Amino acid sequence: MKIIMLGAPGAGKGTQAKQIAAKYQIPHISTGDIFRANIKNGTELGKKAKEYMDQGLLVPDELTCDLVMDRIGQEDCANGFVLDGFPRTIPQAESLDAALSKIGQKMDFAIDVDVPDSHIVKRMSGRRACLSCGATYHIVAIPPKKEGICDACGKELVLRDDDKPETVQKRLDVYHEQTQPLIDYYKKQGILHSVDGTQPMEDVFANIDAIIGV
Ligand code: AP5
Ligand code: ZN
Repeated sequence: MKIIMLGAPGAGKGTQAKQIAAKYQIPHISTGDIFRANIKNGTELGKKAKEYMDQGLLVPDELTCDLVMDRIGQEDCANGFVLDGFPRTIPQAESLDAALSKIGQKMDFAIDVDVPDSHIVKRMSGRRACLSCGATYHIVAIPPKKEGICDACGKELVLRDDDKPETVQKRLDVYHEQTQPLIDYYKKQGILHSVDGTQPMEDVFANIDAIIGV
């Protein structure tokens, strides 16, 4: 099963993608997490990506596409995968389709997690992330057991550099301009499904599960 998670920054793509990956035993591939791991490890890719991410801009397609194509070509992706944060532009979507069609495959589902902008800004200011294992929390909706500490790995939780309110607004603008057109792109392919992302996390997952679990 090959799934794309679409939605504005903070819509809950990552939260849902992790649950899908766990239930269906497929890898969760988050380009944002891959870039953040590279930043943390001080790689060349990380240094380049950080310049764009800190401004709320997209990392250029040429740095992003090869990385994803390499990842989905790995053995653990043979039975499918869930893409979170990719594709984010029409050229990225086209290169994904081209890579899959070469091996006679195509994406199965594009799930749009729909949340209005007004909700997003509130959510982002409450998000706390573990940069060690990628777990995410929300200080009100999904608090960790011990304040500021990751339940999964015991490391410190932080407010992401790009979750400052002024950067969140820029990310929303970029989303509407460059990523939202993908909704029509996948609608035309007949694989788009929308879910209401303002509901509690478990309800959002139940809705997604009803779509993909056929
Ligand atoms: P990325 O890490 O992908 O960020 P994003 O798309 O902006 O998405 P987020 O991770 O911010 O949010 P999310 O939708 O996963 O929400 P989450 O589940 O955490 O990318 C970061 C940057 O990397 C980009 O800005 C760009 O620069 C670069 N980049 C990445 N991919 C790229 C690409 N393909 N091309 C170019 N550049 C790329 O939830 C948010 C919060 O809400 C959490 O606190 C969560 O606990 C809480 N929450 C979730 N669901 C609910 C719910 N139902 N009710 C209440 N709270 C909830
Ligand atoms: Zn952790």
